[in-house]
Amino acid sequence: MRVALAADHGGFRLKEEVLSFLRENGIPCHDFGTYSEEAVDYPDFALLVAEAVRSGEYQRGIICCGTGIGVAIAANKVPGIRAALCHDTFSARASREHNDANILTMGQRVIGPGLAREIVRVWLASEFTGGRHARRVAKIAEIERKYAGGSGC
Ligand code: RB5
Repeated sequence: MRVALAADHGGFRLKEEVLSFLRENGIPCHDFGTYSEEAVDYPDFALLVAEAVRSGEYQRGIICCGTGIGVAIAANKVPGIRAALCHDTFSARASREHNDANILTMGQRVIGPGLAREIVRVWLASEFTGGRHARRVAKIAEIERKYAGGSGC
């Protein structure tokens, strides 16, 4: 499993913590930036990870910002992306088992490094359980197809 990782300036330090965790555990990953606390725009970095996951080159993505909210909203605009904002391990596990989330987002202003590490550990270890959940995830893809190519307005 290869993990694509990114953050804006508001999530930079949390992203560095996640990067350390991934490296310590020998999990292949690529850091798409940002590389300092200089202000940047979070949609740019959410898009880098979302496109990396959509391409299939990376199976999972993790994106950090101040709250985790902006990057989740942006990443979920990319077809095929199911980004889940998780600040607890229960949600992290459920986002994999029920929603087949392929991107995890977290907020540096919301949680500390220890909890973030545990959330990442649980999220990467959890698998989609399929069954009735597969039917529901398929319906999310149907919504994407319904609105593909225009606003419909
Ligand atoms: C940046 O100040 C902040 O808005 C961003 O990191 C994030 O929290 C947005 O959702």
